[in-house]
Amino acid sequence: MSPTTGGRGRAYHPLMAFPDGLADFRSDTVTRPTPAMLEAMASAPLGDDVYHDDPTVNLLEEESAASVGKEAAVFVPTGTMGNQLSIMFHTSPGEEVLANAASHLRSIEAGAAQALSGVAFRTVDREGGQILAEDVDDAMELAGFFPRISLMTWENTHNLSGGRVIPFEVMEKSSARARSHGLSIHIDGARIWNAVAATGIDGPAWGALADTIQFCFSKGLGAPIGSVVCGSEEAIAEIRYLRERMGGGMRQVGVIAAAARVGLAERERLVEDHELAQKLALGFAERFPGSIEPSDVETNLVRVGFNALGMEWPQVTDRLEEANIKVNPPLKGGWRIVTHRDVDAGDIDRLFAALS
Ligand SMILES: Cc1ncc(COP(=O)(O)O)c(C=O)c1O
Repeated sequence: MSPTTGGRGRAYHPLMAFPDGLADFRSDTVTRPTPAMLEAMASAPLGDDVYHDDPTVNLLEEESAASVGKEAAVFVPTGTMGNQLSIMFHTSPGEEVLANAASHLRSIEAGAAQALSGVAFRTVDREGGQILAEDVDDAMELAGFFPRISLMTWENTHNLSGGRVIPFEVMEKSSARARSHGLSIHIDGARIWNAVAATGIDGPAWGALADTIQFCFSKGLGAPIGSVVCGSEEAIAEIRYLRERMGGGMRQVGVIAAAARVGLAERERLVEDHELAQKLALGFAERFPGSIEPSDVETNLVRVGFNALGMEWPQVTDRLEEANIKVNPPLKGGWRIVTHRDVDAGDIDRLFAALS
């Protein structure tokens, strides 16, 4: 596997990023491991992680916990597992979870919370994934024979609203209110490092707003696999036990934790994805007036009003296919285009050339 030079002028490996010039804007999950990740994977010291014997996983867990100011962390295969183990830990069957209606852990995890933890959701229908302190009070007003709410969850950045950042002050106020009602708090921080990059507010500050926080290595951080749940020593010991119950105990998993360590160490580069997202947003605003408000784009997810393009999807998809560009089809008129470490400014120029 001798290194050669890729389309983006960087040395690549046969396993690596899009050597054929493909630009894939579907998600930040499509990235391939970088050469540094592959090298780290190839040379990682390994052990059986179920025995806590994998030094690479142990290091990743320590670094992850410290990155969000928590005592401990546990490595899990996916963000879904991280969220669901956290819900399982914080709730009992028959209880409710207070969440924004457009939460990934409620709507896009195949009913896992309902099926595995036996909980229902008390939802707040607010833009941008927000929950205000008054929403917490409203939800908690119903006592007696109403289902008990035991957990409030956040998602930051918020996927379905187009990568919006829930402002720190909003989370701070509502989390304090939730705590005053005795609720536990979990953050789905699949993209928390995008919130950090966008606001300059560091990981420990966000982490302090919740009892547990999960974040993903396989999104903007660019690693192929993995997420982590961080919390107190006690919480993580129990979540580790629940991970075993769910079949999530892994063995020489340092082989993937090594790539995750590289992604985490390089997290400051996410500002580059945000700059590319701005380039996309400004390009759409200029070429297709009314399709987007660039100031709405806060991180790496760009949501374009497809109807403002004045084109039909089959026409667009044909043009993009011809230009070797992948983008998901629009959903209910909203067209999500995502920047990440395997696309660059030249790919965006190609996208606009194909659309014009
Ligand atoms: C906000 C959010 N939470 C959780 C997940 C789940 O992560 P995974 O795909 O690793 O299960 C995703 C995945 O896209 C997500 O966007």
